[in-house]
Amino acid sequence: MAEPPVPPGGIVGILGGGQLGRMLALAAAELGLACHVYCPDPKSPAFAVSAARTIAAYDDEASLAAFADAVDVVTFEFENVPVQTVRRLAERVAVAPGPHSLEVAQDRLSEKQLLSDLGIAVPAYAPVAARSDIYSALARTGRPAILKTRRLGYDGKGQAAIGHGDDPHGAWRAIGEVPAILEAHVPFEREISALVARARDGTVSAFDVAENRHVSGILATTTVPAAVSDEIAAQALAIAGRIAEALGHVGVLAVEMFVVGARGTPRLLVNEIAPRVHNSAHWTGDAAATSQFEQHIRAVAGWPLGDPARLADVVMTNLIGDDVARWREIAAEPGARLHLYGKSEVHPGRKMGHVNRLSPRG
Ligand SMILES: Nc1ncnc2c1ncn2[C@@H]1O[C@H](COP(=O)(O)OP(=O)(O)OP(=O)(O)O)[C@@H](O)[C@H]1O
Ligand SMILES: [Mg+2]
Repeated sequence: MAEPPVPPGGIVGILGGGQLGRMLALAAAELGLACHVYCPDPKSPAFAVSAARTIAAYDDEASLAAFADAVDVVTFEFENVPVQTVRRLAERVAVAPGPHSLEVAQDRLSEKQLLSDLGIAVPAYAPVAARSDIYSALARTGRPAILKTRRLGYDGKGQAAIGHGDDPHGAWRAIGEVPAILEAHVPFEREISALVARARDGTVSAFDVAENRHVSGILATTTVPAAVSDEIAAQALAIAGRIAEALGHVGVLAVEMFVVGARGTPRLLVNEIAPRVHNSAHWTGDAAATSQFEQHIRAVAGWPLGDPARLADVVMTNLIGDDVARWREIAAEPGARLHLYGKSEVHPGRKMGHVNRLSPRG
């Protein structure tokens, strides 16, 4: 028998206390659900908007057990929560997405293997387990290539380029001599992402495809609609749906893709997946009938999914580091919807907030 949904008044546990957890907690509150955030960092932005908090390490067995007993369902807001933590919790309480989604997305190699098994195109790649693997890997990918750590990369961290004149061993040292994969550098026409939600009963719902521009490896802007054909957009959403299905995923899933060969026949190559709410869908917070945060909460709580319809054209701009100093100007701008994450310390490259600028559709 299917588990009953978490009713209003229920408690959603969130592992991770960053801005994604904060926005999930705000969305949950709107549905009459409360959030309990579990995060080791006492300065986590999500704590300010959550009904309850646990400040403890992810391997603190006693704290995890108490957390599991205090909530009705557990989800996570970033993919570097140890899989073991999620497995432990799953012994005591419902967890969504499940540990399998997390395990695959944490490791760039298993991610690429899953995609390849599903017949989904990815950039040419090869594993690099040791320094001595680099030349054979380069023979597979050609140059330029990008060496990426298998684990723990984000915002372009843990990556090193290998250009035509570069010493590959320099890249190996630069990423810290840890298990990695080498990828062909893709001369993409544009980057897009597809965000789908999958409910407990297997229903899949998709938001419109978004177009992303990165600066120094960090997402700078997302524009919706993306400048791609209906056919490419449909392909992107179908790919994301197939991945969600294959993982038995429950919740929101983001898939980052490269559009290549746009002048001839455009094709999609999948870059990576994220088993969680995603920066490239922050536009949904102001320009869709249901936000990605609400959609994720609905899915993990076993509710029917909301309407993903897009209500406006939108450009989302991240406020990174000192960009946030312009908050007053942005707050006064007609049509601009400002979101700040309540982080007290500004660091270069740190995501401090975002702004959605809306215009009528079409
Ligand atoms: N094989 C590639 N070819 C061309 N560009 C790439 C490739 N891999 C990564 N990039 C560029 O670097 C960006 C960040 O890479 P990637 O998504 O792998 O890393 P990440 O650190 O997980 O990023 P994020 O946390 O922002 O998702 C990509 O969005 C893309 O712009
Ligand atoms: Mg990425």
